[in-house]
Amino acid sequence: MTPELETRRLLLRPLELADAAQVQKIFPQWEIVRYLNSRVPWPYPADGALTYYRDAALPAIERGEEWHWPLRLKNDPATVIGMITLMNREGKNRGFWLGLPWHGQRLMSEACEVVTGYWFEEAEISVLRIPKAAANIASRRIFGKTRHAHRGTDERDYVSGRLSTEIWEITAKEWRARRDFQGQWG
Ligand SMILES: CC(C)(COP(=O)(O)OP(=O)(O)OC[C@H]1O[C@@H](n2cnc3c(N)ncnc32)[C@H](O)[C@@H]1OP(=O)(O)O)[C@@H](O)C(=O)NCCC(=O)NCCS
Repeated sequence: MTPELETRRLLLRPLELADAAQVQKIFPQWEIVRYLNSRVPWPYPADGALTYYRDAALPAIERGEEWHWPLRLKNDPATVIGMITLMNREGKNRGFWLGLPWHGQRLMSEACEVVTGYWFEEAEISVLRIPKAAANIASRRIFGKTRHAHRGTDERDYVSGRLSTEIWEITAKEWRARRDFQGQWG
């Protein structure tokens, strides 16, 4: 079961198949897909969101292996603006994207904070590991700020080709230490 979560500005409701229509309108943009895994088809088919959610994401949620939260602004709850996902699988545990009109407002930093808390406190998994294209500056800055540690480098296939990749990681112990530090010092 994916719970409903919220942050100061965002509502995170569990994914429904009906969300695919809105995703299809904002997701297929080169700036969004270029650093995503090469499994994302490009050019993006007209039924890409629908088939991915119907055939892959919703069955994985059903099996308890993934959690997908479409992001909505509290002041416009009818509009999907992006997605954040947790995956209980070897090698990659979190992914996210945001529609272009909403970039640069630190919205994804907010979403990451609440779903990472869910990963450690509710799903009770001991490590969160994320491979990241080294060229993906915005995404790397989110990790740097939230004290994920850089644990290694390799190469992986993205929509834009094979790229140098950094492996970032945070353990439950590190996450709790950071949360307690912030709680103490603001
Ligand atoms: C990664 C992504 C979700 C960031 O969302 P966002 O809400 O705009 O990010 P934030 O506003 O929280 O910004 C995070 C940091 O990156 C910086 N940043 C944002 N866009 C940037 C850009 N294009 N170039 C350089 N830095 C950038 C911000 O200044 C911020 O750093 P700061 O807090 O130190 O100032 C968004 O860029 C995106 O959807 N990218 C495409 C999908 C993707 O690559 N996902 C990650 C792979 S799983």
